[in-house]
Amino acid sequence: MSYHPDTAPLPPMLVHRLEDADTGLSGAIVIHSTRLGPAAGGCRLWTYPDLGAAIGDATRLAEGMSYKNALAGLPLGGGKAVLRLPAGGLDRAAMFRAFGRVVEGLGGRYVTAEDVGTSVDDMRAVAETTRHVAGLPPQDGRPGGNPSPFTARGVFVAMQAAAQRRFGSSLDGLTVAVQGLGNVGRALCTLLHEAGARLIVAETRPDVAEAVAQRTGALILMPDEIVAARADIFAPCALGGVLDRASIDRLQAVMVCGGANNVLASPEIGQCLAERDILYCPDYVVNAGGIINVAAEYLGWSQDEVDRRVGETGRRLLRVLHHADAEGIAPNLAADRLARAMIAPRVGD
Ligand code: NAI
Repeated sequence: MSYHPDTAPLPPMLVHRLEDADTGLSGAIVIHSTRLGPAAGGCRLWTYPDLGAAIGDATRLAEGMSYKNALAGLPLGGGKAVLRLPAGGLDRAAMFRAFGRVVEGLGGRYVTAEDVGTSVDDMRAVAETTRHVAGLPPQDGRPGGNPSPFTARGVFVAMQAAAQRRFGSSLDGLTVAVQGLGNVGRALCTLLHEAGARLIVAETRPDVAEAVAQRTGALILMPDEIVAARADIFAPCALGGVLDRASIDRLQAVMVCGGANNVLASPEIGQCLAERDILYCPDYVVNAGGIINVAAEYLGWSQDEVDRRVGETGRRLLRVLHHADAEGIAPNLAADRLARAMIAPRVGD
């Protein structure tokens, strides 16, 4: 197996700068692809040294959303908004209303939602000035609200499918090391416990770890020990970049499947894992349950449709793993290639 570095970024379609002196709005909306539908991706509010850094981040994240939405089978392209957190005081509602006006002006080419640094309240303000927003509280039993339970469910069904492939068994009796017990990690632990898996957990908030251990019988490790836990499966549900050249030397698990974004510090790590016969389930393939719920809110799908699509996460993962085997490449690279083929412009576009 050889590593083919064909992961150079695809250029974005549109970089729309945001500047509004009255409200302090500063940043960018990047539309990476609308090949499959409106470009969807959250709005991040973060401290950036300058506009260039914000645009760089938005460009990278927007491309990731194109891949994730494509492989999730959604009729959506990829985009992202990045807003710079002003140094001084901030009228959040006014700033997000101004942001919404720009989103509205893009005529539905970009759909926004919460992301790091933004909240449901912020999206409520955005919704005052545009229709093209999701991540609002659920109404009348329709999709909406916290996406984490759907993310956890998708990771769980992906893990079930991958365990059949890697171990030839269900999760019953396997040991899963879960890193991070936030919204996704806690929900995943509940599903794993119900499925008969043994749990090893680590969390920087000891009281949270203790509560999960009481409920599920999990063994608690210190945060710096969890990568090296004696487990069959490692489930990263905290930080990005957790698997690098140093940490994979300590990894005891032979399968990696979790909710965290950007698990691999660099794409080459996927190749290193494959060479060690460690099955890596690509992060954006297995953690797409949340975006499926967000998409359903915007597209007007039912909750049953969300459940059906999230339930197919295992099938989508197996398709990627099959492609990796057929091409002799690492699963992360196989996912990128499949996604790129789906969003590539076709003759006549
Ligand atoms: P969260 O913020 O609720 O949970 C993260 C947890 O990890 C926190 O409890 C934190 O204390 C803990 N933590 C931080 N550093 C740690 C360390 N070194 N060791 C152990 N625990 C540590 O976030 P959430 O929503 O559960 O998301 C988890 C991951 O999944 C993130 O990477 C996020 O980007 C990703 N993700 C989440 C989605 C969602 O629907 N919430 C959707 C797709 C991806």
